Amino acid sequence: MASVPVSGARFIIVGGGSLVGSATAAELLDAGAAEVRLFDNFSMGAESAVAHLRDNPRLKVIRGDVMRMGDLLAAMEGVDGALLLAAYMTLNMDRDPWGGLDVNIRGVQNALEAAMTRGVKKVVFASSNAVYGYGPGIKGDLVETTPFFSEGAPPAAILYGATKIIGEQLCRTYTQKRGLEHVVLRYSTVYGERQHHRAANALYIIETLDKLAKGEPPEIFGDGSETKHFVYVGDLARANRMAFESAASDVAVNCSGPAPTTTLELVKLVTELAGGGPAPKFVGETAGKVRLTSGGAFDIVHEKAFSAIGWKPEVEMREGLTRLIKWLKEGNEK
Ligand SMILES: NC(=O)c1ccc[n+]([C@@H]2O[C@H](COP(=O)([O-])OP(=O)(O)OC[C@H]3O[C@@H](n4cnc5c(N)ncnc54)[C@H](O)[C@@H]3O)[C@@H](O)[C@H]2O)c1
Repeated sequence: MASVPVSGARFIIVGGGSLVGSATAAELLDAGAAEVRLFDNFSMGAESAVAHLRDNPRLKVIRGDVMRMGDLLAAMEGVDGALLLAAYMTLNMDRDPWGGLDVNIRGVQNALEAAMTRGVKKVVFASSNAVYGYGPGIKGDLVETTPFFSEGAPPAAILYGATKIIGEQLCRTYTQKRGLEHVVLRYSTVYGERQHHRAANALYIIETLDKLAKGEPPEIFGDGSETKHFVYVGDLARANRMAFESAASDVAVNCSGPAPTTTLELVKLVTELAGGGPAPKFVGETAGKVRLTSGGAFDIVHEKAFSAIGWKPEVEMREGLTRLIKWLKEGNEK
């Protein structure tokens, strides 16, 4: 039976000290989890990401590294469900491909082996729409059977997407050969409270807010017509919980927000919600940064998530961005 009812169960969030992990810890605790273990080496995340949960006696922060089996085995004792988040995304992969390949591949394999050894009932693996690749091949509807495009895209983005494909296949291997149940959720770009600067597409939100705070014009690469598809972090926390609770196993589904947007629409919306500011500045094609391009308008279709785990996004970008801006104004750390 692949379902793990959250109430009364124990969870570990591997790589939990950040954007998705902190929101999911709150979601699981609110749903009555007996314990949530937040496992992280804090190389990128920070304990401040769970400051809002610090007083909850059911939350346990564990400093550990996915490259060390001993850390994982000790942390997974008695755990019912494991959410695997620890990863290098494109920007960190660009800076340190060695570290990224280690954590995103061997780190996932270590976590699955530890989960298997400790009798964990179900794993939820954080994959990404990066499994479809980037560049001119990306256009139209992106569904779970869309192939991987690599031509014309930055190598770090392709390395990142390829490691997520490998992570997914490691999960399938553990389910099919060893009986460890799993669900793969392919997140689109995440945004919301505790936003960081590590996701290339979310920079259109967080760097726009940084610029506006300094009274400077936000920057747009190209002509602003490029498509992006975001998902609010609270919606994803719910998806993670529902993946544990559902009977689904050995399935991969997209988790994207209600609708795609363009970079120009996004920057204008962020500017409006931040209380106004200078008009955006068009800064050429890449301005020396890693940029995740596509071949035209695209939509990351999330209908399969509804049929597999009963999930669909609820928070529109206007609402999610309002929550992020409020959180930043309250003086919280990014
Ligand atoms: N943020 C996005 O836009 C987005 C989009 C699609 C998929 N995802 C995936 O979702 C997951 C979580 O995203 P996030 O934005 O919260 O990520 P993040 O980079 O903020 O968090 C990853 C966490 O893993 C930890 N970590 C890194 N190496 C580790 C190691 N060796 N041992 C233990 N912990 C380690 C980091 O300290 C960090 O807290 C990732 O797997 C990411 O690939 C994120």
